[in-house]
Amino acid sequence: MSKNKDTLITDDPSQAAKVLKGGGVVLFPTETVYGLGADSRNLKACLEIYKIKNRPADNPLIVHLSHSSEIPKIANMNAFAKELASSCMPGPITFVLSKLDNSVFSTGLPTVAVRVPSHSKANEMLRAFGGPVSAPSANLSGQPSITRFTDAVHEFKGKVDLILKGPEPTIGLESTVIDLSGPRPRILRPGFWSLDDLKDFLPELDEFSSEDLMQEEEKPMSPGTKYRHYAPNANVILAEEETRPKSDAAAIGIGLSDGWQYSVDLKDNAEYMKSLYSFFRDCDTKGISKIYCFPPTEGRGKEALLNRIQKAADSNLP
Ligand code: TXA
Ligand code: MG
Repeated sequence: MSKNKDTLITDDPSQAAKVLKGGGVVLFPTETVYGLGADSRNLKACLEIYKIKNRPADNPLIVHLSHSSEIPKIANMNAFAKELASSCMPGPITFVLSKLDNSVFSTGLPTVAVRVPSHSKANEMLRAFGGPVSAPSANLSGQPSITRFTDAVHEFKGKVDLILKGPEPTIGLESTVIDLSGPRPRILRPGFWSLDDLKDFLPELDEFSSEDLMQEEEKPMSPGTKYRHYAPNANVILAEEETRPKSDAAAIGIGLSDGWQYSVDLKDNAEYMKSLYSFFRDCDTKGISKIYCFPPTEGRGKEALLNRIQKAADSNLP
């Protein structure tokens, strides 16, 4: 897509709301990653997002709301959703629920994904807009999501109508997506909240891993899971603990040794989550061809990190 739009860059959320009302596309920060948003009730604006991202038409968008009390207006807020919303919203979690409002953009599914970001600017924009905003992660389809303002400007200036400036994402990986629409809740995409965390709130949670979802070639439960994902140009390899440093490859991990062409050494999983996508982008800028990702440590973030690293590794070009 050519870069020919006049992109307004501002930290004023009411300007962003105005652009959304006018049918424009807004790039905005959230606590997870940057998003590309449009008025959920404006079909043309929502389709524009697919064009900008080069996103497959059957991959649905998450509807962003300013408060969990807005959910019942568009989806069936069942007992699972009420329980989880009271513990985890606002925050880095997305609920898949039965859809009630057909005026909200959808790819034809009977369900809709809803999320209430905790990010201050995103929330101010949603409040000023006063309605649902459909938004995928702001990245070209298949590439790593964006977690830095400079990358957002570099990639999308000229392609979107407005870029909202605000605090950088603190989490760094996309929200946990949990399907609450059926008789048993299931995690479709791990994130900050892991299966173990969520089991404390929802003991009914199924041990359904996203690896199983990947096998479902025919009819994946979360359409996004079947596509090339989170991948830099370099070949991504999940390293073994004992993998030795290589002067012709990059590495990311906790407690790395010296000797890599380029490396990012982190202190824990939280830093790892926050750094993974910007590291992938920096490797592309440096023209690096091979990346070793060392395993995260036990505990929060492990599941989500392994999921994203594995998908990036599965996306290696032949
Ligand atoms: O943290 C996030 O969730 C970010 C920020 C911007 O909010 N958004 C994000 O959106 O990661 P996206 O489009 O990159 O990922 C949304 C995932 C996709 O895998 C999509 O298939 C799935 O959610 N999804 C959306 N609607 C769904 C539905 N009705 N049923 C099942 N999966 C759905
Ligand atoms: Mg995405």
